Amino acid sequence: PQTLRPLIAANWKMHGGLSWTSKPSDFEAIYPSSERRHLDVLICPPATLLASMNDGVFLGGQDCHAAVSGAHTGDVSAEMLKDAGATYVIVGHSERRAGGDTDEDVHAKAEAAKRAGLIPIICVGETESQRDAGQAEHVVSEQIKASVPDIANYVIAYEPVWAIGTGKTATPDDVDEMHNAIRAQVGPDVQLLYGGSVKPANAESLLALKNVNGALIGGAGLEMESLAAIARAA
Ligand code: G3P
Repeated sequence: PQTLRPLIAANWKMHGGLSWTSKPSDFEAIYPSSERRHLDVLICPPATLLASMNDGVFLGGQDCHAAVSGAHTGDVSAEMLKDAGATYVIVGHSERRAGGDTDEDVHAKAEAAKRAGLIPIICVGETESQRDAGQAEHVVSEQIKASVPDIANYVIAYEPVWAIGTGKTATPDDVDEMHNAIRAQVGPDVQLLYGGSVKPANAESLLALKNVNGALIGGAGLEMESLAAIARAA
């Protein structure tokens, strides 16, 4: 049984235009809020869409700069995301880490989220070669140590890099083992999301695990039918 409230989060990555801003209404029609009072649904669209997204689900950013404002061409601050309607912000996604974000950067971004009144979703996860070398738990535990600031309200998303957008999902046993280890490290109050090729077909077996409190969904979160099917499994 879930002890923490499930969070079903869609990360749209660099997909979507203004015509997508009605997707929360589509979601509401498929899976009305009156039927999902036991869980939270979050969509993280591109920053260009945040302010135009209509209500019904929580909204989040996909990344933020650590500063409040300043000479940072192309960046968006946590305060700006909050101003545009966000409640959450993803930090340390492996696609941002691959672009150069270090644990220290992720730590600073998570602190910025707190400063702005947003809940950071801090992503961690090992590469395939790290897993093959038996280093997965060690890598993730070190990422958590270095990326998570001393704040009360945050979410961890475990996304094994090799399972992102590849159709390869970690087995429920792998996820169970990792999430139990993360739980032992962060304590009982932090929601732990699994991400990496979550689909309607595998959602139930992943979301049934004791320390999986939700999912961070890429591809399957672009369509409201599949997002709703995953949410129904939570
Ligand atoms: O942040 C979610 C993500 O990285 C997983 O993507 O497409 O494998 O569900 P996908």
